[in-house]
Amino acid sequence: MRDCVVIKWGGSLITDKEKMCIPDMDTISSLSVVMKQCVDEGLDIILVHGAGSFGHLRAKHWRLNEGLLDTEDFTNQSDCSSQKEAVSIVRNEMLTLNKFIYDSLEFNGLKTSVKPPHNWARNTGSGFDGDISKVFFDYQDSLCVTFGDVVDCDGVKSFGILSGDDLVVRICKEIPNVKRLVFAIGGVDGILRRPPEDLKDDDLIELWSPNMKFEGLHNTEIDVTGGIGLKAARGAEVAKMGIEVLIVNGSYPQRVFDACNGKEVLGTKIVA
Ligand code: IPE
Repeated sequence: MRDCVVIKWGGSLITDKEKMCIPDMDTISSLSVVMKQCVDEGLDIILVHGAGSFGHLRAKHWRLNEGLLDTEDFTNQSDCSSQKEAVSIVRNEMLTLNKFIYDSLEFNGLKTSVKPPHNWARNTGSGFDGDISKVFFDYQDSLCVTFGDVVDCDGVKSFGILSGDDLVVRICKEIPNVKRLVFAIGGVDGILRRPPEDLKDDDLIELWSPNMKFEGLHNTEIDVTGGIGLKAARGAEVAKMGIEVLIVNGSYPQRVFDACNGKEVLGTKIVA
C-alpha cells in the first residue's frame, strides 16, 4: 500500500482574504504542481482546502457559524437578504473556489475527484457525521478534494460551518494508510511565539505540543472558524494517532513538497 498524505491548503494562502472571492491563482498553480510531484513520488494525496475570502466574509456577516438565528439584526447585502440565502450563496462560492483548484489540478495531469461536504456531511466539529471511507472510496485512484463548507445540522441550529481543519482529523482517523498531515498556510512559516507583526528572530516554534503557549493570530474580523489555534489543536489530535503533523508556509513550494515527503523542512512539527 502507498503512503497517504492529507494536506490542507489554508484559505488565506489560496485567496486574497481582504477582497471578496478573489483566488490567488499563482499560489493555486504552484501548489498543484507540487501535488503532481507528490503523486509521481508514489503518494496518495487527499486535499482539503479552506475558504478564505470565498466563504468567511459572507459567513461572518450572516453569522452562519452560529446556525439559524431568530433575529432581524442583519443588514441586507445587495445580493442577499437572509441567512438561508447566505447558506446557498456561500455553498456556491465554495464550489466556485473549488472549480479553480479542480481545473488547476486537472491541468497538471491529476485525475481529481471532488467531494463537497454539504452533499455528505452533517453537523460540525471533528465529531461531525459522515462516512469517510465510503465518500473517499476512490482516493487510491484519484486525487480526492474536499473543503470547509456550510453543512446541515440537527435541531434548531439547522446549519453550521464545518471547517477543513475538522475534516482533516476525521480523514486521518478513518483512511487506513495516512502517514502524515500537512497544513500549508499563508503568510507565516509555522506556529509563532508571538503575532507576526511583533515578530523577532527565533520566534518560529519548530516543535509544538499542546502544553506550549503561543499568541496565535486569529483574525476574528473575517474568520468564522478557528485560525491557527484550531489547526494546532486538531494537529495534536492527529499526532496522537501516530501520524506526523507539520505546519509549513505554503508560499514556498519546495517546503510543501518536502513536508509531504517526510524530508527535513522549515516549519512547525506538532507532537501530541
Ligand atoms: C471555512 O473553512 C468554510 C467556510 C467559511 C464556508 P476553513 O475553516 O477550512 O477555511 P480557512 O482555511 O480558515 O479559510
